[in-house]
Amino acid sequence: MTGEELREVMRRFPSPVAVVTAAVEGERFGLTVGSLVSLSLTPPLVGISIGKDSSSHEPIRRAGGWAVSLLTGSQADVAQHFARSGIPPVALWVGVDVRDGPRGPLLDEALGWLECRTVSEHEAGDHTIFVGEVESIELGVNAEGLVYKGGTFHPA
Ligand SMILES: Cc1cc2nc3c(=O)[nH]c(=O)nc-3n(C[C@H](O)[C@H](O)[C@H](O)COP(=O)(O)O)c2cc1C
Repeated sequence: MTGEELREVMRRFPSPVAVVTAAVEGERFGLTVGSLVSLSLTPPLVGISIGKDSSSHEPIRRAGGWAVSLLTGSQADVAQHFARSGIPPVALWVGVDVRDGPRGPLLDEALGWLECRTVSEHEAGDHTIFVGEVESIELGVNAEGLVYKGGTFHPA
């Protein structure tokens, strides 16, 4: 059983798409994730799984917290942008409409936003699972969300 086989079956399973951001010493980081999961309501906890190879992995760890923008069905271009590899952190934000939040930049026109403080980190093979206590939420537009299935983005 290989990782490629797991990837193949998971391609059939739609995952909701969000952008996770963090800020360390004034530098901003961000990446597209399909791994956001709601874990607990009391206390309010969510989880993300971040690849150890990702350039955002160490910044998210060092920041001690992160922000999440939940994408709408019309933000596939934003999801694609934040999934691209090798973009220098400064260039990542050119032409992207955001406002700064306490844990990281918040993308305009999202379904909603979460601000999270990391409460635990768990080794998971080539990823680290970050569990975050949700410090605040904000509701955005009430629209369709964005899902990733079969290698492409779809409104749902
Ligand atoms: C739909 C989708 C979901 C993704 N989900 C995750 C995820 O949950 N965790 C992760 O580490 N990378 C995920 N990625 C990949 C990252 O977005 C991508 O590796 C990262 O932006 C590359 O940036 P880097 O070159 O700066 O490391 C996902 C990509 C896509 C297209």
